[in-house]
Amino acid sequence: MKLTPQAIYSKKQAGEPITSLSLYDFPSARIADEAGVDIVMIGDSVGMALLGHENTLGMTMEPMLYHTQAVAKAVKRALVVADMPVHTYNDPNLAFINAQRFLREAGADAVKLEGGVKIQDQVQKLVTEGISVMGHIGMLPQSIGDGKYRVYGKDPDEAEAILEDAKLLDRMGVFSIVLECVPAKLAAEITAAVQCPTIGIGAGASTDGQVLVFQDILGIRSGVSPRFVRRYAEIEEIMRKAARDFCSDVKKRDFPSKKESFS
Ligand code: KIV
Repeated sequence: MKLTPQAIYSKKQAGEPITSLSLYDFPSARIADEAGVDIVMIGDSVGMALLGHENTLGMTMEPMLYHTQAVAKAVKRALVVADMPVHTYNDPNLAFINAQRFLREAGADAVKLEGGVKIQDQVQKLVTEGISVMGHIGMLPQSIGDGKYRVYGKDPDEAEAILEDAKLLDRMGVFSIVLECVPAKLAAEITAAVQCPTIGIGAGASTDGQVLVFQDILGIRSGVSPRFVRRYAEIEEIMRKAARDFCSDVKKRDFPSKKESFS
């Protein structure tokens, strides 16, 4: 049965950990859905993971809609959450128009926006209009741009501001909040202070759920993984070997065989 934002919300009260992966295409979504992942997010990290961008600032509505459509088509059970790209929710009406596009044109069940108090009018508008919203606080990749990725909330004032953002989003009726790169202690405090579930990424073990980028856990992204990533496979190695073996077979005229040809 298809999960709803309400079903995700209820998992917190039931003490059931929520699983989420950020992914961008039909086969990945089908595999994650069949594996029992609760929430598939179409993160704007797609810009970096698949499209060769340096950060998430280059993402716009059209590619995000395109990837969301592919994911939504594959999913039978998971909740589909589309990331609203930077500048597409600069004011409440713009947020509403673009959030509706994700739901109507792309088949998303909900949208995710980065920020707290600074985007409260946008969140309020969407919630009032009946659109399910996932919050995202702590490190906000759309705001730091090329700046350094770091842990947010080590400083007591910054921690207080993040906690207040969480409480505000919760009061406004978001169905969950992503906590990105915050100290585990602060994430635990926020999780205890809000009614809605928290979904952590680099936020320790006390959040109500965990999200990671599918490419990261598969070992597809090259380079050093962030400390909070656990790699469950080394798919990049497998892909590289397959490509090398194909080249070698063609060069040796070992491919195609008779069996792989038509008579
Ligand atoms: O862009 C993204 O993939 C995300 C999730 C990892 C939370 O924002």
